[in-house]
Amino acid sequence: MIIGGSASQKLAALIAKELDETLCPLETRKFPDGERYIRIGGNIDSNAVVIQSTGYPQDQNLLELFLILKTLKSLEVEDIKVIIPYFGYGRQEKRFKSGEAISAQVIAELLEASGASEILSINLHEDGLCDLFNIPSYNLNAIPLIAEYIGEKFNDPVIVAPDKGALGFARKIGEILGCDCDHLEKTRLSPENVETKPKNMDIEGREAVIIDDIISTGGTIVNASRILSKHGSSKVVVSCVHPVLVEDALLKIFASGADDVIATDTLKSDVSTISVAPLIADFIKKG
Ligand code: R5P
Repeated sequence: MIIGGSASQKLAALIAKELDETLCPLETRKFPDGERYIRIGGNIDSNAVVIQSTGYPQDQNLLELFLILKTLKSLEVEDIKVIIPYFGYGRQEKRFKSGEAISAQVIAELLEASGASEILSINLHEDGLCDLFNIPSYNLNAIPLIAEYIGEKFNDPVIVAPDKGALGFARKIGEILGCDCDHLEKTRLSPENVETKPKNMDIEGREAVIIDDIISTGGTIVNASRILSKHGSSKVVVSCVHPVLVEDALLKIFASGADDVIATDTLKSDVSTISVAPLIADFIKKG
C-alpha cells in the first residue's frame, strides 16, 4: 500500500507502478479556518509506504505527514516506511547559537513519535541527519541517475562543481561517465580583487554541466554559470538533485546564460525531469 502526500503524488504514483503496488486514495482538505483534514481511503494493509517531501510549504507538508502516520498507526498498520525525498528543516542539525531550536532533531523525534518504522531520504544535506533517528534510516544517492541522464544527452562534457563542497558530486559523475570534472575556486588577486574560475580545467569551447545537491535561491549557480560563460564554455547546463528554486530562482539562472536546467523529482518543479522513482523502488524491493 503506497500513500502519496500532497507534495509527492506523482512520484508516489511512479513508485507504486514500479513496485506494482496499490496507490491508496488520500483526501486532503483545508477547513475554512485554515486547519487541515486528511482521510486515508481504500483497504488498509498491515504495512504501508508513505511518500512526502517536506519542502515548501514545509510546515503544512510536515503536519500532513504527521497526520497520515498517526492515522495509519491508529489503524494498526505495523510497518510504516516513510520516504522523504527532500528532507526540509535538514540544515539545522545542531545548535550554532545558544537558544536555537535544533529543528532537524525535533522533526526526527516527531516522525518517530508519529509511528514511522523506517526513514528513507535522498541526498540529505548532512549525512549525519540519519544519526538523529533511533529507527533505521537511509540516505540514497541520486547522483548516478543524473550521471545517466547526462551520459545520454551530452558528448564529453566537463562536470563542474560550483564550490569545493560539491566536488564529490562532480567527481562521482566524472567517474561514472569517464569525463573530466573540476570545481570553481576563488583566488585573491589583490586586497580588492577576487577571481573565481575552474581550478584545473580549461573549459574554453567545451560543454559544461554544473552539479550541486540543492538549488535554493539560485545564487550559487548563477555565479557559476556566469563564470563558465565568461571563460568560454560553449554550453552551460545546470543540474541538481533538489530543485528548491525559491521565488524567481529559475528565471535568474536562465538570465545568467544557462542553456538548460535539469533536476530530479524529489521536489515538483518545471525542471524535475529525472525521476528518483526507480532508485526508491529498487531500495524498497531489496527489503
Ligand atoms: C550548499 O551547501 C548547498 O550545497 C547549495 O550550494 C546551496 O544550498 C545553494 O543555495 P543557493 O541556491 O541559495 O545559492
